[in-house]
Amino acid sequence: MLSHEQMKIAERHGRNMPSVYVYEAPVRIWHWITVLAMTTLMATGYFIGAPFLQLPGEDPGMYLMGYVRFAHFAAGYVFAIAFAGRIYWAFAGNEHARQIFCPPLLSGAWWSEVMFEARWYFFLEDKPKKYVGHNPLAATMMFFMFVLGSAFMIASGFALYSEGAGAGHWSDAVFGWVLPFIGDSQLVHTLHRLGMWVLITFVIVHVYAAVREDIMSRQSIVSTMISGWRSFRD
Ligand code: HEM
Ligand code: HEM
Repeated sequence: MLSHEQMKIAERHGRNMPSVYVYEAPVRIWHWITVLAMTTLMATGYFIGAPFLQLPGEDPGMYLMGYVRFAHFAAGYVFAIAFAGRIYWAFAGNEHARQIFCPPLLSGAWWSEVMFEARWYFFLEDKPKKYVGHNPLAATMMFFMFVLGSAFMIASGFALYSEGAGAGHWSDAVFGWVLPFIGDSQLVHTLHRLGMWVLITFVIVHVYAAVREDIMSRQSIVSTMISGWRSFRD
C-alpha cells in the first residue's frame, strides 16, 4: 500500500499520476542482462544434453557443439557475475532491492497476503491490492524458484565446468566439492538440467503474471522494470 510519505515523494516529482521510484538502475540493468544470459543458457544447455546429430565424416572444422558449449560457458560467466552484483546491490540499494532475497517467511500476515494474491491470480478476488515493490506471492516465488534456483545452477554449473578446467582452476577450488557432495558428474548433469526446467517454469509464469498484472492490476508493471517508476490507478 502507498504510505502518505510515498505519496508526498510522488507529488514532489511533479508526476500527474501517483508514482514511486521503485527499481533503481542497477536492478533494472541486471534484470535485462539476466534475461539475455538465461535465454542463451537455456537454448545452449538444452542442446548440450541433447546434441545435434553429428554425421560420420563431418568436417571437424565445423566444431558446432564446441561453439554451443562456448556460448553456454560465456553466458554462464555473465549470469554468475551479474548475480553476484545483484547480491551486492541487495545491501547497497533501496529496500525493494532486498525483497527477493529475504521474504519474511515466518510472518503469518505475509502468508495471508500470499494467499490473497493467489486467490487474485485464480480470479477469486474482485479487486487487486496495490504494492510498491513486488506482491508477496511474486516475492516468495522469486526467492524459492529464482534466487535458490540460480544459486544451484551457478554452483552445479561451475562444478561441471571445473571438470574441464582442471585442478588448480578457481572453479575447482570454489565449486569442485559439489561433485562428490552430490554424488557424481552424471547426477550433477541431471540435476543441472532439472534446474533448467524449474527456471523455465518460473519464467513462463513470471512473464504471464507480468503481462496479466500490467493489464488487470491497479498499477504499472512492465514499464516499471524499464523506467524504475511505479504509477497507480484507481
Ligand atoms: C540459468 C542457468 C543455466 C541453465 C538453464 C543451464 C542449463 C544447462 C543444461 C540443460 C545443461 C545440459 C545438462 C545435461 O543434460 O547433461 C548444461 C550443462 C552444463 N552447464 Fe549449464 N546452465 C546454466 C548455468 C550454468 C552456469 C552458470 C555454468 C557455469 C559455467 C554452466 C556450466 C555448464 C557446464 C560445464 C555444463 C556441462 C557441459 C558438458 O557436459 O559438455 N551452466 N547446462
Ligand atoms: C529469463 C527470463 C526472466 C527472468 C529470469 C526474470 C526474473 C525476474 C526477477 C528475479 C525479478 C525480480 C527483480 C528484483 O526484485 O530484483 C523480475 C522482475 C520483473 N520482471 Fe522479470 N524475468 C524474466 C523475464 C522477464 C520478461 C520477458 C519480462 C517482460 C514481460 C519481465 C518483466 C518483469 C517485471 C515487470 C518485473 C517487476 C515486477 C514487479 O514490479 O513486481 N521479466 N524478473
